[in-house]
Amino acid sequence: SLGGNADGITTDFTPVRPNTADAVTVPEGYSSDVVIRWGDPVIQGAPEFDFENQTAAKQAQQYGFNCDLAVMFPMDDRDERFLYIANHEYTTEPSMFRGYDEANPTREQVEIAWAAHGLSVVELASRANDGGLDPVLGSYNRRITALTKFELRGPAVGALTRTNADPTGSDVKGTLNNCAGGHTPWGTVLSGEENFNQYFGTADTITDADTLEQFRRYGISAEPSGRLWENFDDRFDLAKEPNEVNRFGYVVEIDPWNPNSTPVKHSAMGRFKHEGATVHVTADGTVVAYSGDDERFDYLYKFVSSRKIVPGNSASARAENMKILDEGTLYVATFSGNSPATEIDGSGTLPSDGAFDGGGTWLPLMTVAADGKAVSHVDGMTPEQVAVHTRMAGDKVGATKMDRPEDVEPSPTTGKVYMALTNNTQRGTNGKAAADEANPRHNNKHGQVVEISDDHSGTTFGWNLLLVCGNPEAADSYFGGFDKSKVSPISCPDNVAFGPNGSLWVSTDGNALGFNDGLYYVATEAPNRGETKLFLTVPIGAETCGPLVTAGRVLVNVQHPGEKDGATIENPASHWPDGGSSQPRPSTVVAWKNGFSGGSGSLGGLL
Ligand code: FEO
Ligand code: CA
Ligand code: CA
Ligand code: CA
Repeated sequence: SLGGNADGITTDFTPVRPNTADAVTVPEGYSSDVVIRWGDPVIQGAPEFDFENQTAAKQAQQYGFNCDLAVMFPMDDRDERFLYIANHEYTTEPSMFRGYDEANPTREQVEIAWAAHGLSVVELASRANDGGLDPVLGSYNRRITALTKFELRGPAVGALTRTNADPTGSDVKGTLNNCAGGHTPWGTVLSGEENFNQYFGTADTITDADTLEQFRRYGISAEPSGRLWENFDDRFDLAKEPNEVNRFGYVVEIDPWNPNSTPVKHSAMGRFKHEGATVHVTADGTVVAYSGDDERFDYLYKFVSSRKIVPGNSASARAENMKILDEGTLYVATFSGNSPATEIDGSGTLPSDGAFDGGGTWLPLMTVAADGKAVSHVDGMTPEQVAVHTRMAGDKVGATKMDRPEDVEPSPTTGKVYMALTNNTQRGTNGKAAADEANPRHNNKHGQVVEISDDHSGTTFGWNLLLVCGNPEAADSYFGGFDKSKVSPISCPDNVAFGPNGSLWVSTDGNALGFNDGLYYVATEAPNRGETKLFLTVPIGAETCGPLVTAGRVLVNVQHPGEKDGATIENPASHWPDGGSSQPRPSTVVAWKNGFSGGSGSLGGLL
């Protein structure tokens, strides 16, 4: 709670002006600072970053590239020390290596990229004189990379996941494309393996029709990959190791309190382009995990556990609780509208009853019992197939095709679930699925935010659209019924997060309105429901990731600054955060209200 201290994060700030500045901007009366940048030391003894002289050995001890998920646990009750965990989603080699030759990368460059993926665990110390946070090279610090040992669990393990290097099918090397995620009440981190397809390729010809159809459904191309990793390790070669790709695309769980622990991949939650995973716990201790599949026309899923939480925060309690997401039922969502639609000048539809709303049903795909035995609920598919080719299971049962399900997160105060649907420029085009009440626009450039009232452990839900994003002056945008002349324009919602009082915050990726991405506060309750206020903007070419809102601070991960068509190392589109003629560096940022400082007790607390 804010405890009456006026120096915490509040929602009465004056919105930031949409802008194209090469800077992080925050409201009047707030400040921000960089916490940690790509290449900064994470492990004790790590060398300082040198853009011109990077090596894989250095990168494996330094903060990875393209920080995305942000999770922070308090390490004490005085707001002095936190354990911070970030995902490192992907690498952009042409902006990391001077003279990079896409047709002929060096082994060192490839191994740097492997080390720049994964996650970082970093202790952070509160600064005494303001709200800043400084990295500490503490004993929990850890880098997890594309080479770290993982345990794959659940129905996927078997004939579809065995490789020459791993006859068990469960001993997996590394994690890739970790996008969003969440934390669990038992102190672990969930991280979604999203666009894993891009790392696999082959120069050989694959002709098996079933294999090619499975590849097609997951966007995997049986041709040389963009990074050519298959030239450096056979496991990335789809012809030589056809099952390696089946070992990616899961929700991974990490115990950040034990740097020697083996992270887990939970195949009972299905394999798709997991944006992330977040949990809600019902009154009887059932854990419900929500996860979106970020692809145009793909699906929303949830996993309902049958195992209950073991209390306590000991290492053994955490190890027991890390089995919760292995036992239960995986569902996929269908959405239906409740009112006929009216076409508006070719751009989409408006509901005839004035509200974008309706009901939905969760369709079961598979159930895993306590003994590990799994049952498929999909005709013609074994549990192993459902766990590995989950998208095809969703296709078979008739799940609803959504406009890119990104982050999905339950409110800690109301239990309502909020989902960002980023955009879908193919909706209603070339024979693709037409607009419906939940995905109401053709050629949807700006996305929408869905509010779901879920019977969490049950199989039905109600839904409505909180936001249909875009220019507030456009006829096809909707801001929860709030006066559209008084909102900040918002486009391409990607991540959702909640402040300690249940306030909803939405960050964007790929803003199609012509200004930089940012983080917005969005009111969910009357009388201001739908009010949308821009709190923070990120530099040129960057995406606003991670958002994490505590009582006293806002953290964002500034991903891919300078990522713009035509940008090169010789002519970067951004010089953030180091300024001058420097290369851009993905970095973590903290913002606070002026007057707030570390060590002020309850203000920093979260969860
Ligand atoms: Fe990695 Fe769907 O954003
Ligand atoms: Ca309606
Ligand atoms: Ca994302
Ligand atoms: Ca994104």
